[in-house]
Amino acid sequence: MNQQQIHLVRSTFALVQPIAGDAAALFYANLFKADPGLRHLFKGDMTHQGQRLMGMIGSALNLLDRPAALLPVLRTLGARHVDYGVRTAHYDTVGAALILTLEQGLGAAFTAEARAAWVDLYGVIARTMQEGACEPALAA
Ligand code: HEM
Repeated sequence: MNQQQIHLVRSTFALVQPIAGDAAALFYANLFKADPGLRHLFKGDMTHQGQRLMGMIGSALNLLDRPAALLPVLRTLGARHVDYGVRTAHYDTVGAALILTLEQGLGAAFTAEARAAWVDLYGVIARTMQEGACEPALAA
């Protein structure tokens, strides 16, 4: 990701932060609509889960300039996700639900450039988490 893209994801995430609780709820509604089968993977309180998701995206955004610090955290997170029952194919479903949520939450502020920057960011996070998962792609 280049500096302009990093700026775009940070500035759009800043717009989401005041409505983080609503955004997280909308995200899970979008996710479970896309794949109702994913619901059973989540055992805990969804409000708390939403806070953890937004918190982790925020941390990733803070660390984008310091990949040496960010990448190991994401690999470990990816390894934990294997234990949660998450498979490679689920990452695309989650990515699509995230982009849809940003589009719904940000409206016109979610420009084509902002969308492209978020797609790139999610791709980096998802690929790095999958490296940590160390699962064969065919297991998806
Ligand atoms: C951008 C990618 C993702 C991020 C940043 C993320 C972040 C997190 C965080 C921070 C947690 C809290 C627990 C922990 O730290 O280990 C968590 C738990 C979890 N995530 Fe993710 N996640 C991502 C992708 C996914 C995907 C693709 C799925 C598939 C459905 C998923 C399903 C879950 C589940 C089932 C839990 C455990 C919930 C529970 O304990 O009830 N996540 N995630």
